[in-house]
Amino acid sequence: MLKKLQQKWNVGGKQFFLILCVFAITGTTTAWLTKVITTWMGFTAATFWLWKLLLRLGMLVIGYQIILLTVAFLFGQFAFFWEFEKRMLRWMGIKVEDGGYREEGRQRSAISGQLSAISSQRSAMSDGRSETRNQRSTNQRSAISDQQSAVSDETSNLKPVRRGGSQISNLKSVHLALFASGAGSNAQKIINYFRDHPAIKVTLIVSNKPQAGVLQIAQRENIASLIIERENFFRGDGYTGELKALDIHWIILAGFLWKVPLSLIQAFPGKIINIHPALLPKYGGKGMYGHFVHEAVIAAGEKESGITIHYVDEQFDHGQHILQATCPVEPGDTPDILAKKVQVLEHKHYPEIIEKLISAHDTQSLQSS
Ligand code: GRF
Repeated sequence: MLKKLQQKWNVGGKQFFLILCVFAITGTTTAWLTKVITTWMGFTAATFWLWKLLLRLGMLVIGYQIILLTVAFLFGQFAFFWEFEKRMLRWMGIKVEDGGYREEGRQRSAISGQLSAISSQRSAMSDGRSETRNQRSTNQRSAISDQQSAVSDETSNLKPVRRGGSQISNLKSVHLALFASGAGSNAQKIINYFRDHPAIKVTLIVSNKPQAGVLQIAQRENIASLIIERENFFRGDGYTGELKALDIHWIILAGFLWKVPLSLIQAFPGKIINIHPALLPKYGGKGMYGHFVHEAVIAAGEKESGITIHYVDEQFDHGQHILQATCPVEPGDTPDILAKKVQVLEHKHYPEIIEKLISAHDTQSLQSS
């Protein structure tokens, strides 16, 4: 049970121990102080039961919190417990700011600092080695604009495979890394969706293409970015060390064209998801991306297409489905028209599903702890 709690709080062994110490010391100190105050105020007689009750309630509601934050501060765990307090206040219906932009800024600079350290390490390691990069061009892919074609909700036939909807209860923010190789319209929608989210934050953009549009989004949004190299990705540990060091919890693929290596899948079990612009298992696999997918769908005379959000495994577009949503393929539809219809579905469902999934995951681990 303790192990589950540690996983839920997403903290290391040492921090977990310190947190337990804070709880233990706070509990004992509150009880001891309540007793001392009771004696000092002369509330020991049975006739003072109401005063005693009020004192205990006061100590529990206010005293405990003050002692908790003080002890947490002494143990270097203030940030963790402050999150805890904020969640409690929100639960009580009191509006609290989420640390705001400055905290984010600090977090980002910390991430950037770590990234530069990692990059220098990487360059040292790859000294004298020629750079290998994915040459698969995204230029041929349909130009993706934010223009949304009219696909009504009625035409979108949702097929939920696994849904969640409960409130997220993690004490710590859940950090997402978005992996993308192209323009990043889905990445942008996800960033927008979670911009003010109390528990989920996009903290890293990963790309295999230094010229990818998604990196400009990262810059504009002041989100740390990481450009990965083929050799390190496939023959190294899949950048697991860097991602763990940056405290990433979930990996969201949004137009990422490389296959995810086993090392990364094993390091993030059940926490890597992808979106594919067709109804898998059809029109998936190697080479099936961008306009190639839509061309194949139209050429096959399909009456409907759509999106598949799925877990990632070692094969292209293969893992367990999470959700499929459909749109009609009408006579006269070109790959570009179909791409736009599909994109509407992507932008609508992907952020929501990410939130539901993380929420459901959090609730499950809470129930089983
Ligand atoms: C989307 O069509 C997605 O389904 C696929 O790659 C595309 C990414 O597009 N995996 P963008 O990066 O949002 O422009």
